[in-house]
Order: sequence, then C-alpha cells, then structure tokens
Amino acid sequence: MTQMTAAAATQSVFQRPARRGLAKDLLSFSVVALCVMVWTSPSWAQAGLDYEFYRENIEPIFLRGHGENGLVPGACVMCHSWQVGTPFKLQPLQHDAGGEPYWTESRSRHNFEVVSRLVAPGYPTASRLLLKPLATEAGGLPYHVGGKFWESQDDPEWQLLAAWVESATAIQQAARAPAPTVDFEFFRSCVQRVFLNPREGAVPCASCHAAGTRGFAPPIPEGRSYWNEEESRKNFGVVMRFVTPGYPMQSLFLQNPLHPDGGGTPMHGGGIRWETQNDPEWQELAAWVRGDNRGSTCPAPLQF
Ligand code: HEC
Ligand code: HEC
Repeated sequence: MTQMTAAAATQSVFQRPARRGLAKDLLSFSVVALCVMVWTSPSWAQAGLDYEFYRENIEPIFLRGHGENGLVPGACVMCHSWQVGTPFKLQPLQHDAGGEPYWTESRSRHNFEVVSRLVAPGYPTASRLLLKPLATEAGGLPYHVGGKFWESQDDPEWQLLAAWVESATAIQQAARAPAPTVDFEFFRSCVQRVFLNPREGAVPCASCHAAGTRGFAPPIPEGRSYWNEEESRKNFGVVMRFVTPGYPMQSLFLQNPLHPDGGGTPMHGGGIRWETQNDPEWQELAAWVRGDNRGSTCPAPLQF
C-alpha cells in the first residue's frame, strides 16, 4: 500500500481493520480481465488538480470500508469498477505481498483522470464526487444508490476532498477566470426549445422530465405553446442543479444524454440525443454553460 504522508489522524482513518476482509472481496473483483478500453478524455492537468495529493490522500478513500453509514459496508471501489458497470469506474486493483490492495502508478494516473472529471476545480460544493455520498441535509445531492457516507462537510474525508478540489484554485490563480454566469435569457429563448423538440431516435426531454427533482420541462398550460417567464425561471432553477457553470463536461445536463463514447455518462434513462460533442446542438449548449451564449437570439442549431 502507498505510504501515507498526511497527518497521523488522517492515517488512522484509512487504516481501519475493515480493509482486511475487503482485500479478499477485492481480489475476486480484480482478477477479472483488464478491460480493453480506449480512454479519450481530455487531460485535467491544466485544471490545476494535484496528482501527488490525489494519490496520497484521495485515492485511499475509495479503498476504505465505509462501515454502517453506507448502504453496504463496502468501499467505493466495490461498486465503482469496470466489472460492476456503475458510472465513475476505477481501475482494477493489484495486491501486495501482504494481500493489501493497491493501484499501480499508471492505473492511479488513469483513476486521476476519471476522478478529475467528477469535480469542478476550485468548487467543492459544485463537485459531484463530493456531493453524491454526502448527506442531503448537509448539502449533498438527493440521491446516490451507494448510500450516504458523509454525515456533514466536517467529515475528515470530505475535508480532504475539499482541500484537494480547492487547492486547484490556488495553483491556477493567475490563469483562472471567475466562474461565468450562465445566462437566463438564452435558456429561456433557446435552450428550452431542445426540451420540446424530438430528434431522430430520441424523444424530447419534456416527455420524461415533467415533474419531481428532475422536472425541468413541466407541461405547458393550455392555450400556449411555450413557457412564460415565470415558468421559465422555475425550469432554469431545476436545470441549474445539473449545470456546473464554465464546465460543460462536468454538467450532467450535457453529459447524461451524450453517448458514453463521446464522454457522456454510461447510463441515462432517457437514452442518447447527442452522439458526440461535435454535435452542433451540443456545442451551442456547451457555449451556454461556459457563459458565452447569451441573449435571446438563437444560433441556427437551436432554431426548430
Ligand atoms: C453499493 C454500491 C456503491 C457504493 C459502495 C458507492 N457507490 Fe457511488 N454510485 C453507485 C451507483 C449505482 C451510482 C449510479 C447511480 C446514482 O447516481 O446513484 C453511483 C454514482 C456515483 C457518482 C456519480 C457518478 C457520475 O458520473 O455522475 C459518484 C461521484 C459516486 N457514486 C461516488 C461514490 C463514492 C465517492 C463512494 C465511496 C465513498 C461511492 N460512490 C460508493 C453505487 C455505489
Ligand atoms: C425517455 C425518458 C427520458 C428522456 C426523453 C430524457 N430523460 Fe433525462 N432522465 C430520465 C431518467 C429516467 C433519469 C434518471 C435516471 C438516470 O440518470 O438515467 C434521467 C436523468 C437525467 C438527468 C440527471 C438527473 C440526476 O438526478 O442525476 C439529466 C440532467 C437529464 N436526465 C437530462 C435530460 C435531457 C437534457 C434530456 C433531453 C435531451 C433528457 N434528459 C431526456 C429519463 C429521460
């Protein structure tokens, strides 16, 4: 196992006996073939995330048993692997002479790329990695199949993750522009049209996203064919839960209906609308998330 150089307190957190039993389980998980896969994501090195800190402090979190707080007394890696098929896939593990699981350097690098895509550098509370396993009352996302592992943001693991994500800001200070504002007017006039319009092989978002926590496209009252300003504001509020300003590829709104080969999430109940990020419609929506598309004049791909 990697030497921990973080504080002794942190060390004890990771050295729980739970790992012993886990090692056995992980063995059976990791003997499965090294999946043949091509990884084409952009490198996040430029986002200022620190790889060394990641390897020393963040990666061990994924190996650690999470006791009674989780749905299963398991580690993240028990579900988040290629074998299990969840989104957020970690690489297969090796075992050292003592039977302890570890990732080789090159697999850690690969994991780093994957994990980096789940965070918004500089913004812990806009980072899915930090929000999925965090209790909803503490600001976490409403839902995580794996359960809630952190009761509050004071949890030592959460704090470590936050320190890692935040430090990206310091590293990038000079290069980083402030998070852009995502324009409401453009959403109202142009983005919402996507919700109503089908595409070959894809039903419109509005067919499914009419209500609930994902209800960004509720039914339009009779006599009208489009949402009014007040309704649009509500829809905007819902959609923004799935948007990380400035980061199209960290925004579920743009990732869920995108083909996994094009960088989308592996699962979406609504299927695929965009095959690749080159899709003109996707491009215009990405420009909106980056803060570039503003106002009420819609570019051609968003005119229906
Ligand atoms: C019991 C299995 C299980 C465990 C253990 C588990 N997860 Fe998950 N996780 C899932 C499943 C299934 C999903 C996809 C469905 C969902 O969003 O809840 C998921 C989704 C996620 C996502 C969203 C990925 C994306 O691309 O949007 C993140 C981030 C995540 N988990 C982090 C973690 C972390 C960190 C841990 C350990 C502290 C963990 N999970 C433990 C099953 C698990
Ligand atoms: C056929 C029904 C259907 C259609 C059409 C559909 N979705 Fe979904 N969508 C779902 C279901 C079911 C889920 C929840 C499970 C999942 O994440 O796959 C979901 C989840 C999502 C999420 C993630 C929400 C979360 O809680 O993590 C986003 C964002 C999303 N959809 C966006 C869209 C967009 C944008 C469109 C249109 C381009 C669309 N969906 C079309 C059914 C649909």
